[in-house]
Amino acid sequence: MTDAIPAGVWGHPPADLVALPDGARQLSPLIPGSAALEELAPGHLGSLTILAPPGTLERRHALAHALRALAPGGALTALAPKDKGGARLRRELAGFGCAVDETARRHHRICRVRRPAEPAGLEAAIDEGAPRLLAETGLWSQPGLFAWNRIDPGTALLLGALPALAGRGADLGCGLGVIARAVLASPGVEALALVDIDRRAVAAARRNVADARAAFAWADARDADAVPDRLDFVVMNPPFHDGGAEDQALGQAFIRRAAGALRPGGTLWLTANAHLPYEAVLSEAFRQVTPRAASGGFKVFEARR
Ligand SMILES: C[S@@+](CC[C@H](N)C(=O)[O-])C[C@H]1O[C@@H](n2cnc3c(N)ncnc32)[C@H](O)[C@@H]1O
Repeated sequence: MTDAIPAGVWGHPPADLVALPDGARQLSPLIPGSAALEELAPGHLGSLTILAPPGTLERRHALAHALRALAPGGALTALAPKDKGGARLRRELAGFGCAVDETARRHHRICRVRRPAEPAGLEAAIDEGAPRLLAETGLWSQPGLFAWNRIDPGTALLLGALPALAGRGADLGCGLGVIARAVLASPGVEALALVDIDRRAVAAARRNVADARAAFAWADARDADAVPDRLDFVVMNPPFHDGGAEDQALGQAFIRRAAGALRPGGTLWLTANAHLPYEAVLSEAFRQVTPRAASGGFKVFEARR
């Protein structure tokens, strides 16, 4: 390993658990503008700290890419909450041929390894977590994305309730593009902006939504700049988890952003888990709110600005 080659970081590891080298390059697909770990040349990195993701296939994929991108002897620090994959880190890294130094702090497991000269099993883990066309859904997807190998029942409820839309619209938190595909089936739709904070979701959506009316943005939908304005409609199944924990404020911020992006009279179509408290913010931000469907623990609203 040499100090001349760069340091990387994936996500925002708690600062009291690990110290990051100055200038560490962000590599998380969930932080817009980051470099892509999987595109780094083999042996490019001198060190990498990763707040490992919770899904097994996604995590093993990221760890394998981390070891691929590190120079032999390069330092890998991988950490995660114990109940969100942390408890498995030591065994997974040992399986790649690493000698693991593990510590436990503040409900996290922190594993430190040096990249072995010849790690084992990287290709298999990379393949298992890679983007692929799924026979079950006929869509491009990747482990780690929302409902990556099925149609979410909340999304399905929205698709069943959605009328043929028209004009210019946006799909906030577009994921693989399931809702966008249904929206674009209507010839009255002139343009649709698909926005997601996950680079992998945007890449899958680009493949799944081959339509000249679609525009794609890897961005935080809460940013005013990320969403066009004076829209005729917005569709969404908003996220309600941030970093693995339920975050109701995230969905509420999506609702306010949708209201800000719509023209007066424009409509929001929203699906959500029944327990999420969105009614108050919908009533604050919209002139008229109509429940349009409820089933299987989900609810769908049409809200007119
Ligand atoms: C519940 S999923 C819905 C995905 C897709 N629309 C569907 O129905 O299958 C929410 C999506 O929002 C994305 N997301 C989370 N936080 C975001 C943010 N701040 N800005 C944009 N997208 C976000 C997630 O990556 C995820 O793809």
